[in-house]
Amino acid sequence: MPQRPGDLLLRKQAGLPISVLTAWDALSAAVVAAAGADAVLVGDSLAMVVLGHGTTLPVTLDEMLHHCRAVGRGLAAEPHHGHAPLLICDLPFLSYQCSADEAVAAAGRVLKETPAAAVKLEGAEPETLVVIDRLVRSGIPVMGHLGLTPQSVHRLGYRRQAVDPAGQERLRRQALALERAGCFSLVLEHVPAELATELCARLTIPVIGIGAGDACDGQVRVTADLLGLTVRQPPFCPPLLAGRSLAVEALRGWIKAQRSPATSPEAPAAPHC
Ligand code: KIV
Repeated sequence: MPQRPGDLLLRKQAGLPISVLTAWDALSAAVVAAAGADAVLVGDSLAMVVLGHGTTLPVTLDEMLHHCRAVGRGLAAEPHHGHAPLLICDLPFLSYQCSADEAVAAAGRVLKETPAAAVKLEGAEPETLVVIDRLVRSGIPVMGHLGLTPQSVHRLGYRRQAVDPAGQERLRRQALALERAGCFSLVLEHVPAELATELCARLTIPVIGIGAGDACDGQVRVTADLLGLTVRQPPFCPPLLAGRSLAVEALRGWIKAQRSPATSPEAPAAPHC
């Protein structure tokens, strides 16, 4: 049985940390599920990480649905000891900003056409709060996202957010408003750690940080960043391994061995053939 959005709240109440990882296809989904993630996010960062765009803005709802279905298949194929991870899908840019009706239609497609049980969207402008209220009352669980919100890159850049007292007060107000609107959890990206810690204590819902210090109720990371696969790493996500250079070196060795099979002493052993 997959986890439900409410299970993240139970983890917060029990003082258990929450680990969320992104996935974009069946392969990455199987890896993060095998590692034991509590929730898997099909983040719109996939626009940059796997589709090669410069920002998250171009990815479409149909593309997000395509990736989310693949992630769902990868999760279903992975054996679970206990609960399968909760699957959350980002609503892409302009799929929820134009009207509450369009937002319900977009989020409804996510829940009808993929195995995701929740959506994530960015911001807490008054119109966004109206949208969240409509989604939640329609039975669609919503995760909020504040701080560095990549869909607003042309307004906010990729800078750390809430760095001055006015920005911090705005973030506090927005976080409380998202909880009141019915979000079941909140991602805080690239904001001061003290502010994130304060909000974890003030909010009932779990606060999931990325570049927001170590004291959040949970952490979320872009899996390709953690594995060192992306070329441009965000400053707040140091890689756990040099995945890209390990892969390049291994493949280079294989290519070299193909080109001179008889003379290549360092030809790597094939792991499973
Ligand atoms: O799109 C994404 O991967 C995200 C995470 C950085 C939280 O929103």
